[in-house]
Amino acid sequence: MSVRSTPAERAAALRRLIEHHNERYFELDAPEIPDADYDALVRELRKIEAEHPDLITPDSPTQRVGGAAVTQLFSPVRHRIPMMSLDNAFSDEELLAWADRLARLLPDVDLERLDFMCEPKVDGVAMSLTYVDGMLSRAATRGDGVTGEDVTANVRTIRDVPHRLARPAPHHLEVRGEVYMATAAFAELNARAAAEGTKSFANPRNAAAGSLRQKDPAVTASRPLSFWAYQIGEIDGAVPEAAGDGEWPPASQSAALALLCAAGLPVSPDAGKVLGVSAAFTRCRELEHRRHDLPYEIDGVVVKVDDLVLHARLGATSRAPRWAIAFKFPPEDRTTTLLDIMVSIGRTGRATPFAVLEPVFVGGSTVRLATLHNEDQVRLKDVRPGDLVVVHKAGDVIPEVVGPVLGPDPATRPPAWSFPSACPSCGGPLTRLPGESDTYCTNIDCPAQRVQRIVHFASRAAMDIEGLGEERVLQLVEAGLVSDPADLYVLGADRLEALERMGSVSSGKLVAAIEASKSQPLSRLLVALGIRHVGPTVARALAIQLGTLGALRHATAEELAGVAGVGSVIADSVIEFFSNPRNVAVVDRLVALGLRLDEPSAPVVGDGAAAPTPPELPQTLAGKSVVVTGTLEGFTREEAEAAILARGGKSPGTVSNKTFAVVVGESPGASKISKAEALAVPTVEGSRFATLLDTGEIPG
Ligand code: IVH
Repeated sequence: MSVRSTPAERAAALRRLIEHHNERYFELDAPEIPDADYDALVRELRKIEAEHPDLITPDSPTQRVGGAAVTQLFSPVRHRIPMMSLDNAFSDEELLAWADRLARLLPDVDLERLDFMCEPKVDGVAMSLTYVDGMLSRAATRGDGVTGEDVTANVRTIRDVPHRLARPAPHHLEVRGEVYMATAAFAELNARAAAEGTKSFANPRNAAAGSLRQKDPAVTASRPLSFWAYQIGEIDGAVPEAAGDGEWPPASQSAALALLCAAGLPVSPDAGKVLGVSAAFTRCRELEHRRHDLPYEIDGVVVKVDDLVLHARLGATSRAPRWAIAFKFPPEDRTTTLLDIMVSIGRTGRATPFAVLEPVFVGGSTVRLATLHNEDQVRLKDVRPGDLVVVHKAGDVIPEVVGPVLGPDPATRPPAWSFPSACPSCGGPLTRLPGESDTYCTNIDCPAQRVQRIVHFASRAAMDIEGLGEERVLQLVEAGLVSDPADLYVLGADRLEALERMGSVSSGKLVAAIEASKSQPLSRLLVALGIRHVGPTVARALAIQLGTLGALRHATAEELAGVAGVGSVIADSVIEFFSNPRNVAVVDRLVALGLRLDEPSAPVVGDGAAAPTPPELPQTLAGKSVVVTGTLEGFTREEAEAAILARGGKSPGTVSNKTFAVVVGESPGASKISKAEALAVPTVEGSRFATLLDTGEIPG
């Protein structure tokens, strides 16, 4: 049977995806995918709709501009002239297609003799400012293009936005532009957040949006926001005689910007007029090369026909004017220095090399570390500490070191890196078994492994103990307070209080959180123990079928393998875990400490007969295809696939434009990731796999 979806199905799926991302982006300020990926979804939908116009629905996202306005907090504002969006061009061909369309619509105009404005496309929040008799009277966000939100009080705190215009202007003047955060201000804000232990922002756009959506203008005032004016909206009323240098109403976009600038509104100095469409294209490339020299982030260049009379002739589609195009830059790679290659030790002793980079801002965030997966990957990429390397990151994709940028003389290269022979934590030997790609520290007492085992025990998918992250566990282990998970349950608040960065409130909270975790169901305890191949799905199946920890410990391999979703490999792994005296000792202590050792019973059906096993799971992934690449913590490949199938999804081996998500574990396949990127398929970090299973949505 064919699994290809029909254009109608794909269009429906794309609409759902786009709606979802619209909500994340416009309403929650929490985008899950890079803009480039979002744009690709919209483009795919447009293409289908262009080929099958009968599939266009009035509520299709292509027929509207953006997210609905969130009106609970700020009162709604109707834009008398809708705030439209822009069509995008992602390549020279698409830019040329726009020029061809202009040529068709303006047969009497020579495009090489036409003026164009090329303006940086600042990545921020679109804003409409209304000045009445020269005084700022209202500021509103774009919202869905027709109705935005009144954010006047917050915008008044932005220094760049004049409260009074410097020159006479029409009685009613609407100015449109972008509220943004300059790159340096953004870095400073995030540094402050890190120092204060508060949440940092993923990128300047989110920071700007989040800062504007504040109940208390004092909070907005404390955020370093800026503003660029880029357009005149509604003009009403008499134009004063002595308006100054220019004439109202302006006849061109360049004259409009000059008038706004003279009135005291900030206009980007990087916006400029060029003669002819070819020169406009050249300017796009120039700005692309200079993008990182600008003090603010841009994601493209807006090319506009300068003559406003032609704007009227060209008109607009339902969502965007025909006289402008946004030339979007492709996802970028940056170069930086590879300062060092270090090795981290996981809870199973696996030694993973990672790159320590000179911090570099790429794909919307600052990258300092990037995994190098294993010894072979380092050799393949041939990256050496001291090298200049290319770092690739698109939006929320895991950053990757692509390879070195080699100078003209290879002899001057730093020496090749070799995998250390000793564990950086315990000094014990690191060994790599023949035929395997991973290297391990085999000392079970290795402090790094201890720390990671406890971190895993306390993690979200396991006992879910809040406040017990890596840093805190490291502190506890170093202070000699804890050396295995059972030790957590005998920690008293008094001993915790003696630690640095730990007051009586936090120590009380931590003790309470640890105590509360005692009543977590057996399935979570099983995950927490870190038994190889036993992730949440298998743990739940085992716990439901066997009922108690006692039954599980004494089950035979056959009994275990007989549980739906558990094969002989997992069964052997469970047997092996419980035959290790050290594990048994920890488990015995946990039992003695009073942890819950059973699973809340599955719902009873009908006349009281036992519920069917495995229970029908919520079909969160119905009809969705999820590709897994790399190793996922707590899941074998088979388990991960079984978990997807059990929720109604599919798990094919290859990425296509039908793929809903690619889950990226450790040592992922580069081709799957690059294919996902090329097709704008969202990627999900391995650690968020359980969330994807639970919700059926791309975790934020
Ligand atoms: S003109 C009718 N000029 O890009 C179109 N927009 O994708 C009016 N943007 O909503 C927009 N810089 O928030 C224009 N120099 C610029 C811009 C710009 C950034 C944003 C704006 C708009 C979005 C469209």
